[in-house]
Amino acid sequence: MVKNISVIGTGYLGATHAAGMAELGFDVLGVDVDPEKIEKLSRGDLPFHEPGLPELIRRHVDSGRLRFTADISEAGDWADVHFVAVGTPQLPGSNGADMTFVDAAVTDLARVISKDSLVVGKSTVPVGTARRLSRLLAEQSRQDVDVALAWNPEFLREGLAVQDTLRPDRLVVGTERPEDVDTLREVYAEALGRETPWIATDFETAELVKVAANAFLATKISFINAFSEVTETVGGDIRTLADALGHDTRIGRKFLNAGVGFGGGCLPKDIRALQSRVSELGLDHTMRFLSEMDQINLRRRERAVTLSEQMLGGDLEGRRVAVLGVTFKPLSDDVRDSPGLDVANRLYVAGAHVAVYDPEGSANAAKRFPRLDYCDTLAEAVGSADLVVLTTEWDEFKALTPADLEGLVAQRRFLDARNVLSSAQWKDAGWDFAQLGRFY
Ligand code: UGA
Repeated sequence: MVKNISVIGTGYLGATHAAGMAELGFDVLGVDVDPEKIEKLSRGDLPFHEPGLPELIRRHVDSGRLRFTADISEAGDWADVHFVAVGTPQLPGSNGADMTFVDAAVTDLARVISKDSLVVGKSTVPVGTARRLSRLLAEQSRQDVDVALAWNPEFLREGLAVQDTLRPDRLVVGTERPEDVDTLREVYAEALGRETPWIATDFETAELVKVAANAFLATKISFINAFSEVTETVGGDIRTLADALGHDTRIGRKFLNAGVGFGGGCLPKDIRALQSRVSELGLDHTMRFLSEMDQINLRRRERAVTLSEQMLGGDLEGRRVAVLGVTFKPLSDDVRDSPGLDVANRLYVAGAHVAVYDPEGSANAAKRFPRLDYCDTLAEAVGSADLVVLTTEWDEFKALTPADLEGLVAQRRFLDARNVLSSAQWKDAGWDFAQLGRFY
């Protein structure tokens, strides 16, 4: 019977998963190599912004069901199931994923496990990793304990992490033995009671479902953004095009929002890691379209900059640009590979004075690009601006009206790089108004 669960790695994924498992009624131990992080989490203090998660962690720390440690050996004789949720970042100077943390976590675990248990990988990994780790686990663990590996990819979205963990769209598990499927069915009994689709398969399929899902999502975004390049040239309304496409239930409207493109810690890195992996497998040609998508995506950022320049009469030097939104998406403070932050920095490099406002992301953004002018309020950022550029669709930006900015800006110029405002409303109010994906 599964009673105790450990989660190795308490970053974004691990902290959410640990809290989610406690919410499901298990006793949970979160393990991380960073003692400072452990100390903070033990107080219910999160090093990142995720709605609802601090409350969930605090509740279960207080109830005694969730605790954190920097000592992995505590997990070894205690947990029935160990989830591995450490990062697999892009390797510097390469498209491949850095597997150092996953390998270290599994090796460390193998050395301390002293009771029969299941090690479950959740990190996003190149296909073939689980089979390799299964061998590693067998080699490194004690011969008198029964330890096996399973793979259970995670599909949570930042900003909706708690909901996605507790109410997933589907559960995918890759295993080598039927009894490990049963163990995971026990862990996820609550979701299965709600008839959450359950896919029990082999290691390779489980690993591939994850990267295929992210590659598909990135493809959808890039597909509509490629059409943006057409509508910007010939005319046409990209949002209406997406709406009309989306009514075809085979296509669906989600992830067809044209704009400044995708970013974050997952989609960009995952499509690059996938290309790198298929290339290792001698299948370069198979995923060549992914590199095209990456290019379409990066061209959107460039387009936001050249359009800004065009709106300002061809020169950014010395002009004041207000950038609204530097997180890669709303409800997050994550600026990894953020299109908005990249655009802000490119505008700065081209000579503009860039004032930034973001409800949550300024502190993280300032660590990467300290020279931008980070403002505490929207009014401060747009004050005396020659151009306002909306790059992340936070609710407070989506609700903006021309009247809100009247009297603040120096020039009535607005670039909606996320296609979320009403062009007619702004143009009627006398603004020079442009959107990515529309003829200007
Ligand atoms: C993504 C996937 O959606 C999750 O299912 C997956 O679990 C996660 O990666 C992961 O691998 O961990 P996330 O990175 O949180 O989740 O963000 P998304 O909501 O997918 O958004 C990614 C980017 O695409 C954002 O920059 C967003 O602004 C952009 N986007 C999204 C668009 O430009 N247009 C759209 O229509 C949708």
